[in-house]
Amino acid sequence: NTDITYEDKVRPCIDLIDSLRSLGVEKDLALPAIAVIGDQSSGKSSVLEALSGVALPRGSGIVTRCPLELKMKRKREGEEWHGRIIYKDHEEEIEDPSDVEKKIRQAQDEMAGVGVGICDDLISLEIGSPDVPDLTLIDLPGIARVAVKGQPENIGEQIKRLIRKFITKQETINLVVVPCNVDIATTEALKMAQEVDPEGERTLGILTKPDLVDKGTEETVVNIVHNEIIQLTKGYMIVKCRGQKEIMEQVTLAELKCLCGFATIPKLAEKLTLELVLHIEKSLPHLEEQVEAKLTEINAELERYGTGPPEDSVERLYFLIDKVTAFTQDAIKLSC
Ligand code: GDP
Ligand code: NA
Ligand code: MG
Repeated sequence: NTDITYEDKVRPCIDLIDSLRSLGVEKDLALPAIAVIGDQSSGKSSVLEALSGVALPRGSGIVTRCPLELKMKRKREGEEWHGRIIYKDHEEEIEDPSDVEKKIRQAQDEMAGVGVGICDDLISLEIGSPDVPDLTLIDLPGIARVAVKGQPENIGEQIKRLIRKFITKQETINLVVVPCNVDIATTEALKMAQEVDPEGERTLGILTKPDLVDKGTEETVVNIVHNEIIQLTKGYMIVKCRGQKEIMEQVTLAELKCLCGFATIPKLAEKLTLELVLHIEKSLPHLEEQVEAKLTEINAELERYGTGPPEDSVERLYFLIDKVTAFTQDAIKLSC
């Protein structure tokens, strides 16, 4: 029974990491996460959109301009949808799923400025719904080759530096998004993932836009999925998301989930959840080591401060005299 496994294993694992994250542990330690990387317009935001069921900013050009942490919390059947966006000192509830896109664009304008600039600071979006998987993913700006008007010359390097910050961490699973209609061997994102994870142990390939595969290259795509071209230990999956045509025709995200038999989002969600749980289990001993190292360090620092003033009033007097004497001696030394 998969439900029992889910309640026994998946939920506690993800809850543990989420509660560590909400305690602010991430400032000091790296927590398991999934980062989504790819070239510009490869379909990253579309994959996240399909997983979360809410429309995110997407389209051509640079649309994702800040890292977006998408925290999804599966709710019980019948419970209400809820959303919340957090960035800088800003925290806001979102009542309506159709407001999400606008709120993210506002947040990006505030953080990275109106236009085409990027920013390293995280926007956090929480979605609770019976229809989402329990996953936290980080959407990142796409790799651009050339700067457009208004962007600094080195925008490509800036974006790559930002991406590296996330994918270098051992605790991060790298989801590399590659469209079926480009040559995978030339994909910059896959190269970057290989640099930080040569064996592909924490890299998963996602092939998007299977409907746009060029005639005559279908077999190559099949070979890639069978892990015969560029090998990744975690392998590849194909997913079909909404293209411009479906968006114009107002195909809903729910309808799309049944459109393509071989390329379903629920399968992707299931795979990602499993991978994340395995990764959390693998990371926990390392996390414990880091916590202990940090604790030892802090305790040593604490020791340097000595004890505080004693309770007893006579002892407290001696304590104060000691402090004043020490201070006076220091002051004399300084003035000599
Ligand atoms: P990102 O820049 O990597 O975040 O890419 P987006 O998610 O913004 O997608 C870029 C464009 O590709 C958008 O116009 C999407 O509608 C389109 N797109 C994404 N997935 C698919 C797909 O499976 N099929 C088709 N035909 N278009 C897609
Ligand atoms: Na885009
Ligand atoms: Mg995007």
